[in-house]
Amino acid sequence: MSFSPIKKNLELLKTAPNILDYAQAFTDFSWDTIRSELQGLPEGKGLNIAHEAVDRHANGGLRDHVALRWLGSEGSMREFTYGELKGLSNRFANILKKIGLGKGDRVSTLAGHIPEMYIAALGTFKNTSVFCPLFSAFGPTPIYQRLSRGDAKVLITTIRSYQLKVSHQRDSLPSLKYVLLVDVNDHLGDALLSLPRLMEESNDRFTIPPTDPEDIALLHFTSGTTGMPKGAIHVHNAACHHYMTGKYVLDFHPEDVFWCTADPGWITGTSYGIIAPLLHGITNVVDEADFDATRWCRILETQKVSVWYTAPTALRRLMRSGLEPSRNCDLSNLRLIHSVGEPLNPEAVLWGLKAFGVPIHDNWWQTETGGIMIANFPAMEIRPGSMGRPLPGIEAAIVHRTDKNTVKVVEEPDAQGDLALRPGWPSMFRGYLHEEERYKKCFMDGWYLTGDLARRDADGYFWFVSRADDIIKTSGHMVGPFEIESVLMEHPAVAEAGVIGKPDPLIGEMVKAFISLKPGREASEELRLELIGFARKKLGAAVAPKEIEFWDAVPKNTSGKIMRRLLKARELGLPVGDLSTLEGGE
Ligand code: PRX
Repeated sequence: MSFSPIKKNLELLKTAPNILDYAQAFTDFSWDTIRSELQGLPEGKGLNIAHEAVDRHANGGLRDHVALRWLGSEGSMREFTYGELKGLSNRFANILKKIGLGKGDRVSTLAGHIPEMYIAALGTFKNTSVFCPLFSAFGPTPIYQRLSRGDAKVLITTIRSYQLKVSHQRDSLPSLKYVLLVDVNDHLGDALLSLPRLMEESNDRFTIPPTDPEDIALLHFTSGTTGMPKGAIHVHNAACHHYMTGKYVLDFHPEDVFWCTADPGWITGTSYGIIAPLLHGITNVVDEADFDATRWCRILETQKVSVWYTAPTALRRLMRSGLEPSRNCDLSNLRLIHSVGEPLNPEAVLWGLKAFGVPIHDNWWQTETGGIMIANFPAMEIRPGSMGRPLPGIEAAIVHRTDKNTVKVVEEPDAQGDLALRPGWPSMFRGYLHEEERYKKCFMDGWYLTGDLARRDADGYFWFVSRADDIIKTSGHMVGPFEIESVLMEHPAVAEAGVIGKPDPLIGEMVKAFISLKPGREASEELRLELIGFARKKLGAAVAPKEIEFWDAVPKNTSGKIMRRLLKARELGLPVGDLSTLEGGE
């Protein structure tokens, strides 16, 4: 079913968009011009994200402007001006320096939306160390994987998360020198320190050392189909891209109040929950609480949010809640809604227009791209169901792989193929930590292959089709099936496990596991519940399987690889395709 485009009458828009003419912006674009809108470190000492996001404003006219407005889950509120954020991030940078961390050393956080997370990120950039946030709903096993693969030297977290998820495995994390606790007032040991106390004792002056734009700033873990999570490396120069997308896609204007609902443990929470709004010197709202339809509408109203960046699962939850936001709340300040992370169904776009009085703009990107690549721009006609068009400075194409390890660009409109990008933009990942081969495999014939299948229509709008691999997107969180299967296999009753994403109308995909048992073990409801509990405890409820089905054998191909494609086809009642390589010759 096709949906009518949502046209824009530019004269009726409350604020003139930063891009009025897409084609012209594309032709005129240059990264040098974007770079010249940032300041650079004094005396030509390079480019540092925290200088651009905080110090530049604190030293200029925005010293007393609110940078972060934090809303506590219990109703409290704290504001941090650009001037205050400068002092606090300086203190944090001094702590890192004092405990011996320097350029390239990894600092991990395991916390939700708390002010310390933002201060730590900015202080880490200042010290030219590397910020590596973790999803706070992860259980002990994914946390261990990421701390150990990322060689984290410092972890910032709460006492509860530390005790529940980290302390018992600390001996297996030899790189982890210090844990800084945000909610204790005294040090609990030489390597288990109170962050408030360290902050109090620390100096609020700090000189950012020379920072090469290619110095590593961020490490974000993402999942692959096979193997354990991959650490995507991003550099300080990514700030150019965050700034550019803040200007052209999120369409920031100086008076804007912005709210990004993404969890700080995933890349949207960093690129757009921290960096982009601060680069533009606007007010960034941060809400500590989890999703709640009524609360969210109230935040839009009371905080006078003008630009809102959220995700399809949240929009569908709001849709289901039966609330009619624009009827019950004064949303007169809200001028733009953006969505990312999973397919945004056209019905949600149309509901959004009615419910909020402004359309929802879908956009597309990935952990590896570091920032938005394809978007519905504010001035552009929206085609419900489409991710939009590529950004200025970005070349995107639909390609077909040939059997000679080359790719052929598909010119014909609406043909499905691999979504590919021409490498070279500033927030492009520079590698997977310690995994050069895995990184190289992402490129072919001068293109970066995104792992997504898509099509492009005759007017250059891109439409998402599916992932090309077995990666699961559940509530917008990327989950690698191998990581889940490995945990299930640790249970003494499990012989084999295969994990897929089962389509779900609310959360996009639900994690489902197929399990075969060891000889002598009987499938039962009790065992099914035990396995679900086991997985939740180790992985965290957000990524553990919600459904488990017992099979006599989990299908594998002749080289022993689990055939998730077959599991999924069976689950969906689809033809199972060519099974000639299936073990046992099914
Ligand atoms: O499959 C695409 C899906 O999410 C993947 C990237 O996920 P992640 O690395 O966690 O990045 C999060 C930052 C956005 C993509 O490869 N995806 C992202 N945006 C969309 C999407 N699928 C459909 N429509 C989108 N707008």
